[in-house]
Order: sequence, then C-alpha cells, then structure tokens
Amino acid sequence: MEKKNIKFYIIRLINILYKVYKLFCYKKKIIKLRKIITNYNYRYYILNNSDILDYQYDKLLIKLVKLENLYPYLKNKYSPTQLVGSKYKSFIFFKKKNHKIPMLSLNNVFSEYDLFKNFFSPIKKIIHKSNFCCELKFDGIAINLLYKNGYLVSAITRGDGFFGENITQNILQIKNIPHILKGKNLPKNLEIRGEIFITKKNFKILNQKQLNKTKLFSNTRSATLGILKLNKNINTKILNLLNFFSYGIGFIDKNFFLSQQEILKKLKHYGIPICNHTKIYSSYYKIINFYKYYKKNRHLLPYNIDGIVIKINNIKQQNIFGHTNRAPKWAIAYKFPSQEKLTLLKKVTFQIGRTGILTPIANFHTVNINGVNISFATLYNINEIKRLDLKIGDNIVIQRCGDVIPKITNVIINKHSIKKRKNILIPKICPSCNSILKKKKNNILYCTSELFCKSQLKAYLKHFISKNAINISFIGEKLIDKLVDKNLIKSSVDLLNLNIFTLSKVDYLGNKSIKKILKFLKKKQKITFSRFLFSLGIPEVGIVTSNIISFFFKTLEDFLNTNITKLQNITNIGKKTSLNILNYIKKKHNINIIQNLLKKIDIIYSKKISEKNFFYQKKIVITGKLKFITRHNLVNQLMILGAIINTNISKKTNILILGINPSSKLLKASKFNIKIINENKVISLLNKISNFEKY
Ligand code: IVH
Repeated sequence: MEKKNIKFYIIRLINILYKVYKLFCYKKKIIKLRKIITNYNYRYYILNNSDILDYQYDKLLIKLVKLENLYPYLKNKYSPTQLVGSKYKSFIFFKKKNHKIPMLSLNNVFSEYDLFKNFFSPIKKIIHKSNFCCELKFDGIAINLLYKNGYLVSAITRGDGFFGENITQNILQIKNIPHILKGKNLPKNLEIRGEIFITKKNFKILNQKQLNKTKLFSNTRSATLGILKLNKNINTKILNLLNFFSYGIGFIDKNFFLSQQEILKKLKHYGIPICNHTKIYSSYYKIINFYKYYKKNRHLLPYNIDGIVIKINNIKQQNIFGHTNRAPKWAIAYKFPSQEKLTLLKKVTFQIGRTGILTPIANFHTVNINGVNISFATLYNINEIKRLDLKIGDNIVIQRCGDVIPKITNVIINKHSIKKRKNILIPKICPSCNSILKKKKNNILYCTSELFCKSQLKAYLKHFISKNAINISFIGEKLIDKLVDKNLIKSSVDLLNLNIFTLSKVDYLGNKSIKKILKFLKKKQKITFSRFLFSLGIPEVGIVTSNIISFFFKTLEDFLNTNITKLQNITNIGKKTSLNILNYIKKKHNINIIQNLLKKIDIIYSKKISEKNFFYQKKIVITGKLKFITRHNLVNQLMILGAIINTNISKKTNILILGINPSSKLLKASKFNIKIINENKVISLLNKISNFEKY
C-alpha cells in the first residue's frame, strides 16, 4: 500500500473514532440530563417539593431537546421530552380516567428569533395570510371538563395526555366553574379545556393560613397543585380560593366552529369563564407588541402569567399543520424571561426607618434579573424573617416584577444547605442610637428615640426636603447624612438656619455649593398649607391626607386647636390617623418646631376654592407622559382644587387623566367605565376655574 493511502486511512479511522467518542459523550450527557429532569419531575409532582426554578427547569429541558435533535437515534419514548407533563404526575388518591381526545402541551420559545424560526416562518411557507389569536398563558394546572348535555360530569387533570386523574369532586367546589351550561342546543358531549389557577390575592391568603401549619407554597402554580391534590379531610373553603379560565375545547360531537375566536365566544355564552385580554392580529409587529405589553405589565394582572400563547385562528388552517405527539404545530407559547433568580443569603443588616421601625435588609450574592443587578432586598420587618423561616446561608429566590422593588419570595432548603444554615440574630438595641427596642402588638420592633435617633432624624430630614414637602433641591440626601453624622443639625429648623460657619465644617462641600444653599435659605420659603402639613412628617399623614386636612381647616391655627371629634368627622381620615395627628400637636416640642419653622416659611392658603369646581373631591389617577405641564405641577394644582390623587385605578376612581404612552391603567379604566380626559382638556378646565392659583 502506498504511504499516501495509509495516511488517508489513518486519518479516516481517527475521524471515525472521534465521532464514536463524541457520540458516547453525548449519550452519557443525555442519560444524565434525563435522570436529572425525571428526578425533578418526581420531586415536583409527587413530593410537592419544587427545588428548582421554572426557568432553570425549562433550560434543562431545552438542552435535552437540542441534544436529542442532534442525535435523533438516541431518542427514546421514556425521555421526559416525549412525555406530556410527567408519567409521575400523579394525584395518588384519585382514580385515572381517559380524555376523549388527547390533551397536548405547547412548544415554547423564549426569543423573537426563535418565534420566527420555529413558528411564523414554517407557517408563512404554507399559508400566506393568516390571523392569529393571541392569548395569555395562565400559570396553573391544565384541566379537562366533560359536559354531557350541558351537565358537568367529570374533571380530569392532563396526566400523561391520554389518562389523567379524576378530580371532579374537588373541581365542583370551584366557584367560577358552572355545573350546568347556559343556553339551548347544547352538545351531547363537550370537553372544555383550560387552566385552574390561584389569584395573587388568594395566594397570599393561602400562605397566611399555612403559616402555622406546614411549609409555605413557593409559587402560585405549586399552590394550585397543592390545593387540587387535597383529598382526605378536604377543606372545601380552600378550594374556593381557586379560579378557572378556559382556552379551548377537546372533543365535541359535531365540530362546527370556524375559528378559535368563535370557540371562545361560544364558551362565554355557555357561561364558561374566558379571559378578556385575548386579541386577534394578523401583523407580526402587533403580536410582538402584545407580548411586550404583557411582559411589561403582567405584574398589574390579578393572576400570574408566564408568557403568551399564539394560535392560528382559522380551524381549517390549524388542521393543515396538525400536531406532533406532544404539541400542536399551529400554536406556540412565547414565554417571558424569568423574573426570579436563585441566590445565596450572605447576611442580614438592620436599619431604622422614618417611623422608627426596625427593617431587616437581606444581603445576597448579586443576581441579574432582566438586566438589573440586585444584591439586597428589604425584608420589611422582623415578622418577614419568621414567615420565610429565613437563615444565613439559605438558597433564596429573588423576584423582581416591573419596577416593583425586589423581594425574597421563597427559601429553598435541601440536604446540602440544611447543615450550614445559621440563625439571624435580631438586635435588641437600635443599631443607630443604641436605645432599647420596643415591641408593637404585632411583634414588630421599633426604636422609641424619635428624632434623637440619627437614623430617624436623617430619614425625616430627607422627607422634609423632598419635592412634595419643602422642595429644597440644593440640599441633597448625602449632605443631610454628613450634617447629622457630624452633629451639625438636630432638626428641620436647624436645617433652614444653616449658616456659612456650619456648612464649612462639612467635608467636600465647595464654596459654590455653600453660596447656592445660603442664597436659597436667605429667602423665606413660600409653600402651600397642604405641603407644610406633609413636611411635618406626622405618621400616616401622606400627601393625600395633608391635602384633605388643608381643605378642612382654614388656617394652621385652626388645625393646631382641633380635637379628636373634629378630626374623625373628616371624610377619609381614620381613627388611627386622627390619633397620630392629636399626639403630634399635643407635644410642646412639636409646637416649638412649627413656630420656628414659620420664621423661615410663609404658608400660602388657597383662596376659598369653590366646592363646585370640576375637580373638587374627585378621585383622580394620571397615566402616561404629559407634554405641557409637569406631573408634579399638575398634581399640586389638582390638589389645591380639592382633588384626591391616587396612583392606582379602582372602581371608586372618578377620572383618569391621559398622557402619551399610557400604561395598563387605561385598560383598567375603560373596563370600569371611568371618565377619561386628555391633557389638553385638563388644562382648559384648570384655566376656566377663575379662582385657581398657580403654585
Ligand atoms: S392551549 C392544544 N392556551 O400551558 C393546545 N394552553 O405549557 C393546548 N396554558 O398544557 C393548550 N394558558 O395547560 C393553551 N391560553 C392558553 C394557555 C395554555 C395556559 C397551559 C396549558 C398547556 C400548558 C403548556
């Protein structure tokens, strides 16, 4: 054999050996992954002990799908990728029952790119124009309800897609699932498919109930599953906490429906609860916007969703695509990125807030959630530590929804971490002023030193200079910290009386800044009565309450001479707030402060505003960007006219003021039939009110 040939064969042999070796490695990887996922399925479904986050589980499953697609001959029917849900998903006590038509799952995508590659582009190749039904993806447990001649006869979980558990007895307790369908000419057999879930509000109620009993549920889905699994000693009241939304049908005697939209409409007529956020779009751009909208605003919904579901609307077109063993090809779930991350609790520090309450702060290894690095979260008060059974060294789940501040939602305890857990030492003395902490009725600890405690003084002064109070932008929060730390100021009066001598003692404060501050403080500040009241920092007296009080009392003197009966007669002022106000004005020290503040501040009382003005006593919410007026100014002006400004829409809201790019408040307002007016209209109304003053 020629030398050249030998070389060629050796290279080929090496190549083949390398490929066999690679295949061997992948096979090992695949087997390992299958074992891990199956184990998680077992722990989740049988033991109800989820110790992996959804997105981490999804990641493992996607990895396995990718590997199996690379080497299709390594696929096998027992792989978790081939099972709808899990073989282990068993409601131990319940008998199995078959579905008339298999209950499929959905394929998932997590990016716009994959959505186009795996869903839109294969569809586009076959159908040029189609409408898509865009729905929310409810985060709960799938259920199949069988109605015979309009009567609910069985409710079966999805199980393995062919057989599920018969949980009819439990489902009958769920309030919004009708036992009898409305309407005439009802189908002889109708399978209604949908999701059982728990609202965020009911989830809180449930965990409060669980507090003294067993482990807390870590998320709404595991809570739904936990409740549905109840059998012995069944507490029907707990089942009342569950809800249902239908998203389609299974078996029906004669399928006369032309579209998914028509199915949902018919189900609604039957009295079946249907989510009203569903939209029909033909443009991809609009579908992506639908996704983006709910990704941003999902925290405003009363229940959890983990993505959207996009379905071809036309049933004939759906049939062209059909389905695999696992999922339809005419529908896809476009899931949201995780808003939860797992990390390790390093330590807990303690702070004292403006009201003196001891606030624990959890410090953990930095996690990045949707582009934001987070390394600490407030635990509100010491009860939260007990509620979570939190210990140093715990694996904790951090959640961040929209702009809401991050919080710890769950503690995951496993064999490895249990030994390393260390108790959190709750301080007995104030970390700021060393005075002994006192306990409130609800066990919350607080410092009684009030403004003698530096932490409380700093927090109060920051409140005092804030926009809605005195609004001194030249004095920042850092300067306040330095002034208090150096014992240069002890009250709000000291702050307004700052002089060159005191300011020059502050490190790194330039001459320019000193000049600016002194120039500003030289003038007597002019502020409205309402803002003055707010600046005093009386517990429970926020912007809205200050505004209400400023309307009730003609002058500050009137206010300082009030009594409990007068205070309690004011609408929207409760007993607790009245007592706090009384407690404040009774103290000589506080009156002294007010008198001294008045040497530097002029209170502006609004001219008697006609109670007939359009905004008087109206509950108003503002949404979107304003073009002609700052939000701060608008709020102030409306409050002067006696409006009550709220941040969230409720049934009691009277007016929604609409700016550019409104949030989902607009949606909510139109649902409640609330009057909506735009910025131009507000400005013209303000101008018409002749008594109106601009501050
Ligand atoms: S359609 C054949 N629509 O998500 C189509 N499913 O991860 C099957 N889900 O098993 C489902 N919201 O339990 C559909 N609007 C929605 C849904 C939805 C939640 C659940 C359902 C499904 C699972 C797949």
